[in-house]
Amino acid sequence: MQNTKHNFGGQWTEEKLRRVKKYLVAYATIMNKQQFRFAFIDAFAETGYRILPDEQNGSQLAMPELLEDDTRTFVEGSAKIALDVRPRFSNYIFIERDAKKIVELEKLRNSYPELSKDVFIVNKDANEWLQDRCRNYTWKKGRAVLFLDPYGMQVSWSTIEAIAETKAIDLWILFPLGVAVNRLLRRDAQISPAIRKRLNFIFGSPDWYQAFYQKKRKEDLFGENEATIKDCSFDSIAEYFVNRLLSIFPGVAPKPLALRNSKNIPLYLLCFAAANVKGAKTAIKIAQEILN
Ligand SMILES: C[S@@+](CC[C@H](N)C(=O)[O-])C[C@H]1O[C@@H](n2cnc3c(N)ncnc32)[C@H](O)[C@@H]1O
Repeated sequence: MQNTKHNFGGQWTEEKLRRVKKYLVAYATIMNKQQFRFAFIDAFAETGYRILPDEQNGSQLAMPELLEDDTRTFVEGSAKIALDVRPRFSNYIFIERDAKKIVELEKLRNSYPELSKDVFIVNKDANEWLQDRCRNYTWKKGRAVLFLDPYGMQVSWSTIEAIAETKAIDLWILFPLGVAVNRLLRRDAQISPAIRKRLNFIFGSPDWYQAFYQKKRKEDLFGENEATIKDCSFDSIAEYFVNRLLSIFPGVAPKPLALRNSKNIPLYLLCFAAANVKGAKTAIKIAQEILN
């Protein structure tokens, strides 16, 4: 059981979960007074727990392997956090691709007998499940908060479009700014076809290339020539992604939160978008305050 609990992330993971939790409490409180059924969908659910990073667990010991599993600190992951929110959600949907983690999610569900009949655990690819659910079911009477919390570039733009089309979902998404995107945008513009395809997959358009690269004239020993070079920053990549969201959602939090590592590098961007026109204004106000 222990080895399927994940050791991933540092302070920024706490930061991310703390803020999403605040939104879930605010959302459930508001929705509880309305007619809708409302779900929490955790599309990259993991197990409901994670192990604190090594530095907080004694890896600086001479022989850290002597540390027993049960002396390590397990902290709550997003699935468990959501199950503890009160007022409760009508349903919980936990999607996870890894079958071993599904076993842990089932144990988590069993530890909440009062909620368990409303907890649905799905062992599938999140993109596939979400696109089907968003496009082929009616969302007239249902609302949801969806958390997309991938390690890297797993969320396709087609999934984000399907979410926006429901006009019913409030989306929290972790955008892999520094862990992946900025690293793949090579300075010399020599981006392989496979990487271009992946960037198109997450941005839903090839125009990131015009946004992030410029032709510049430069002089060298052989005279003047033209070269294509990277011309973007963490901030401009973030702005580009926020604008992409704005092109399909009625509301997007204008200032996402950069989650930084101990060297102050922004690893991820925590973003929020609201798909429901009526609810967007309030949702964005609450989400932006939480992000600030
Ligand atoms: C960063 S972890 C999620 C952490 C979790 N939200 C928490 O706070 O406890 C990402 C999870 O997504 C799962 N995953 C990766 N690709 C996936 C996919 N395409 N569909 C569903 N799950 C996926 C991984 O197995 C991993 O458990």
